Amino acid sequence: MEKTLVLIKPDAMKAHHIGDIFKIYEEKGLEVLAVKMLQMDEKLASQHYVEHIGRPYYDDLVGFMTSGPIIAMVLAGEDAIANVRKINGKTNPADADEGTIRKLYASSGSRNAVHASDSPESAAREISLYFSATEIFD
Ligand code: CDP
Ligand code: MG
Repeated sequence: MEKTLVLIKPDAMKAHHIGDIFKIYEEKGLEVLAVKMLQMDEKLASQHYVEHIGRPYYDDLVGFMTSGPIIAMVLAGEDAIANVRKINGKTNPADADEGTIRKLYASSGSRNAVHASDSPESAAREISLYFSATEIFD
């Protein structure tokens, strides 16, 4: 069973899609191993989005991600990393397939409802930013 880190971003939190998003992951067979509600600060945002530092959209991204509470979760399943990114859909909802979370709930390519890890290395790194070993029920 592979693990991945998912965030419900501030736009989806404000739009009351917490339940809808959990329902989609659970219906697709993913196991929820850990959950936490928190507000990112600039330091955590810079750790989470380290590879985006210096990009033209970085300051806007940090402003958005620190603008309100988020939910962090660890999901597990077969090929969970690729599978969850498929369930989330392409970064820009205009390009995302029908039925994906971003197609359903994202309002733009920057305010796009969810985050998911993109490789085993990022999953391990990102999970450890939000959860200690005793907070993960695997
Ligand atoms: O989230 P994902 O892995 O699909 O996309 P990314 O290319 O790794 O970018 C990370 C996040 O930065 C996106 O989900 C957007 O929230 C934001 N972003 C943005 O605001 N404008 C861009 N041109 C690219 C990314
Ligand atoms: Mg990414």
